[in-house]
Amino acid sequence: MAISQSPTAHIFIDTNRVISPISPLLFSGFAEHMGRSIYEGIYDPASPHADERGLRKDVMAAMRELNFRALRYPGGNFLSGYRWLDGVGPRDQRPRRRDLAWQSIETNQFGTNEFMDFCKSINTEPMLAANMGTGTIQDAANLVEYCNAPVGTQYADLRASHGYHEPYGVKYWCLGNEMDGPWQIGHLDAEDYGKKAREAAKLMRWHDPSINLVLCGSSSSGMPTYPEWDRVALELCWDQVDYHSLHYYAGNREDDTGSFLALSAEFEAFLDTLIGTLRYVKAKNRSKHDVYLSWDEWNVWYKASGSSDMQGGWAEAPHLIEEVYNLEDALVVAQWMNVFLRKSDMLKIACLAQAVNVIAPILTTRDGLLKQTIYYPFMLFSRLASGAALDVAVKAPMYSTALFGDMPLLDVSASYDEASQTSAIFIVNRSQTDSLPVELNWQDGAPQSITSVYQLAGTDPKAANSFEQPDIIKAVQIGAPAIVDKCAELVLPPLSFTAIEARMG
Ligand code: AHR
Repeated sequence: MAISQSPTAHIFIDTNRVISPISPLLFSGFAEHMGRSIYEGIYDPASPHADERGLRKDVMAAMRELNFRALRYPGGNFLSGYRWLDGVGPRDQRPRRRDLAWQSIETNQFGTNEFMDFCKSINTEPMLAANMGTGTIQDAANLVEYCNAPVGTQYADLRASHGYHEPYGVKYWCLGNEMDGPWQIGHLDAEDYGKKAREAAKLMRWHDPSINLVLCGSSSSGMPTYPEWDRVALELCWDQVDYHSLHYYAGNREDDTGSFLALSAEFEAFLDTLIGTLRYVKAKNRSKHDVYLSWDEWNVWYKASGSSDMQGGWAEAPHLIEEVYNLEDALVVAQWMNVFLRKSDMLKIACLAQAVNVIAPILTTRDGLLKQTIYYPFMLFSRLASGAALDVAVKAPMYSTALFGDMPLLDVSASYDEASQTSAIFIVNRSQTDSLPVELNWQDGAPQSITSVYQLAGTDPKAANSFEQPDIIKAVQIGAPAIVDKCAELVLPPLSFTAIEARMG
């Protein structure tokens, strides 16, 4: 890695340079009926940690700490073959089915009502999805009636007969999942999907005009139909939807850590293209309505991707895509979240995929729980980033990457919360070898003090936590520097993520 220019980096912070209010939904998660995400993850009556409902208390505690603002459910590819009626009503009458997406057995012992109970227990907003694969627009409308209508008609009464009299008022609804992907059950081209989604949206909204709808966008920037799929689907549905989704899974397949650690460039390019598409369609449709972006599946995922990771062999709760996360993965997650703040004017929802066991920050055994490396950056952003995102200026030495050319060694974002008079700065040092002295320079009023500094760092980018050694990579609190003349100095270790919390006012 070639390091050039001055060895000290500067970060200029001005609380007047607001990008946008930060949508709390940027700190959301995703739980699919897949592998051991629901069964043995969230719901595990056989675990010593289960409560009387079979919900894992230790998992709920960790998820509360992550402070997921919304949880997307029930899929994922699973969604496109799911019959939601299978998962409600008396448990002993629910069918066992073959889940074709993951070649697993779905027992349906956990369904919509159990999910709603779970969301309430961890204080998160449910984000439900309607099946646009095998499901009809009528099924989608019936599910909205079941969840959101007052009693007095068939599906609302069915809900009441299941023990849930009050409507849930579910606010966020996805119109299918990755419908651009040929792997999807019931895959459609953009035009057919757009027409189906538009009609489903109409019926769903007629049941409840207050709901927010998310249209399926490209399932990756690598899709051959990207970004044309997005334009076509958006043109058909513009006035019917509130958000347009994107998905992306990052990987270090070439074992090129320098490029992997510069992936924010790719995340930003993906968002920029879709933001351009949104602007184009809004203008073309002569609309006054706005549609925002929902990055409702994102994470590192490339190691656990062989066929035995993806197909369950018709087992219940098979071990599927249980990716083990290392330090470099955590640094990619941290800069992904930096990008969320930097693009917070157009990106309003982001769901870490997934929450438990399946490509997740949390791994479980029947009686144990492990916090993976990626747990810590997510938790720190979720806890500390609030108010508005700030447009910080960064002057940092550059290094060269094979994929993105010269990139700055630092990746930075910041927030300022006027109401609570707190501010946070998030910094990734991408250097694999060198500590970097950094000056934080406040351009307007400096904070009263830096109240805490949390850091995740290590010398080996491949270092990971395990049940045997759970604390190899975790966030630790380090000494907070003093502020002198509106400036504070830190030395950031190589391969590190640092979250700085300051008290303003
Ligand atoms: O999150 C795992 C899978 O990845 C989801 O089911 C699908 O939407 C995506 O391809």
